[in-house]
Amino acid sequence: MNNFTFFSPTCFEFGRDTESRTGALVKRFGGSKVLIHYGSGSVIRSGLMNRVQSSLQASGLDCVLLGGVQPNPRSGLVYEGIEICRREGVDFVLAIGGGSTIDSAKAIAAGVPHMGDFWEFFSGKAVIGKAIPVGVVLTLAAAGSEGSGVSVITREQDSLKRATYSDLIKPVFAIMNPALTCTLPPYQTACGAMDIMAHVMERYFTNTPDVELTDRLCEAVLTTIIEQVPRVLSHPDDYNARANIMWAGMLAHNDICGAGRDQDWASHKIEHELSALYDVAHGAGLAVIFPAWMKYVLEHNPMRFARFAVKVWGCDMDYMNPLRTAREGISRLEAFITSIGLPLNFAGIGAREADIEYMVRTSGVNENFKLGSYVSLGAADVAAIYRLAL
Ligand code: NZQ
Ligand code: ZN
Repeated sequence: MNNFTFFSPTCFEFGRDTESRTGALVKRFGGSKVLIHYGSGSVIRSGLMNRVQSSLQASGLDCVLLGGVQPNPRSGLVYEGIEICRREGVDFVLAIGGGSTIDSAKAIAAGVPHMGDFWEFFSGKAVIGKAIPVGVVLTLAAAGSEGSGVSVITREQDSLKRATYSDLIKPVFAIMNPALTCTLPPYQTACGAMDIMAHVMERYFTNTPDVELTDRLCEAVLTTIIEQVPRVLSHPDDYNARANIMWAGMLAHNDICGAGRDQDWASHKIEHELSALYDVAHGAGLAVIFPAWMKYVLEHNPMRFARFAVKVWGCDMDYMNPLRTAREGISRLEAFITSIGLPLNFAGIGAREADIEYMVRTSGVNENFKLGSYVSLGAADVAAIYRLAL
């Protein structure tokens, strides 16, 4: 096992009606004037916004609102949010929504005290040194942004989708009421499930030996998703299944499953080019890319994939031919993706073969910058993975 630092400062308030605690939590973490950041209106239609505002008012907190976050959140709204916070003296950003809203809130929180352009954090020109606190009321189990230090933003003028990381933008609290996710359309539930699985698989496929505990944690999160997601797709109001999925989404990405091991992340970077160019849901892009990546790197360590097949998918181990077992695991993953209504190829997300060269270029991969750690991928490899996903 590798050395590691595990820092998880977020207070998780989990369960029914926990949004009524929003005001008390903002006060506990030092907020007095709050920017409420949200998306295209699902939180208003569901009545959640009213309940959160009542809670903030009951705690005597002042608020300004900024809605309009789009899936694959854009830089333009981040600039607007930074401007509003400075003008209004906001000292706390509250995200109500899924990963896109949380990521936009994090970028605003880091941008407010920064003298330069906030995009410098995403282009690698600056490191986040300060941020105002971010709190979350989560409505979608997917990105794990409620417990991560990551923000992913798309720059509008050139559709460049980039991530930044800092402990300083980890939310100070995350309110997680599984009942809030019952209104999700089935497609969003499925996309969320795929993202959760991908966050685990990026960590599971590692070259670090003797990480038995985190291997088993990864397998537990994956099997939980495989069992619980079909339950909520047939019974959207199944609170307990929603609760298991929501907590799995947090565990998948706050790095408790990744501590002490090398992590890959090539599939995420390859996918980000797809969601940037075609504005598809991140989870749908991952459904297309992850099996293709698996087929491409399979022979690097067939036993790793055979373990995945046996422990996660319940396949029988073929000791004479582990590669056969390994392939069976990938097939079961593909069958699961299809069964929850997600695409497996470019056609399913409207992507075009003709754009592969462009996506390889914008991914920035070259002789000196490769993707992944399980298998290090150059430009030709990334292009081959896109082709396998055709
Ligand atoms: O805009 P609203 O009205 O909120 O509607 C959203 C949106 O249309 C809707 N939705 C959310 N909760 C709902 C609901 N509809 C009905 N009922 C509810 N309870 O769902 C749609 C998708 O929302 P979005 O926030 O975009 O989804 P998700 O949570 O999957 O976030 C995706 C973004 O997160 C990034 C992705 O790249 C993508 O930009 N990621 C962020 C990560 C992080 N910060 O750690 C890691 C991930 O790997 C990922 O890259
Ligand atoms: Zn993801």
